Amino acid sequence: MDTITIHDSTFRIFLQPGEIHDAVERIARQLNNDLHDKDVIFLVILNGSFLFAADLLRNYHNSCRISFVKISSYEGITNEGRIKELIGINEILEDKTVVIVEDIVDTGNTLDCVINQIKEKHPAELKIVTLLLKPEAYEYPHKIDYIGFRIPNRFVVGYGLDYDGFGRNMTGIYSLVE
Ligand code: IMP
Ligand code: MG
Repeated sequence: MDTITIHDSTFRIFLQPGEIHDAVERIARQLNNDLHDKDVIFLVILNGSFLFAADLLRNYHNSCRISFVKISSYEGITNEGRIKELIGINEILEDKTVVIVEDIVDTGNTLDCVINQIKEKHPAELKIVTLLLKPEAYEYPHKIDYIGFRIPNRFVVGYGLDYDGFGRNMTGIYSLVE
């Protein structure tokens, strides 16, 4: 399928399933090499990362824990301004290598919020994996350790990513036709 329609918007194929598969295997190889002697816990950020995480971690062959967290849609107001709460972290992260698994980093607001909340739990180190990064939109200094694709600042769906809840089940990634 070269184009899909969600509501009234048209999306054109941007990354084929095979290209995604190759990138996922490349990242898995890097993780296998880099983390084999560490006490690792992967924190998969739901919902968008579910397919990426499943494909990535079935190619990760070292001992590890895997847990799933979600950003609440509720926004609390604190001294630092608006923050979203990270829900579902019940694990002890102290002294562990925590690896955040994200589908996409756009402005980086979400990632920044996740990182700040994980750091409060005193991991030994924190690594970040994202399938997609929009470099033109990214506003933070956090180093992203593993990147599948750097993509233009355009809205994409598929392979876990949604538009208004739709499109997550597509095996390719499609970008909005403006
Ligand atoms: P950020 O906080 O601006 O980095 O955006 C992060 C969140 O916005 C992601 O976790 C996605 O849920 C959503 N998002 C950003 N860009 C896209 C996109 O192109 N397609 C689908 N969702 C996106
Ligand atoms: Mg996400």
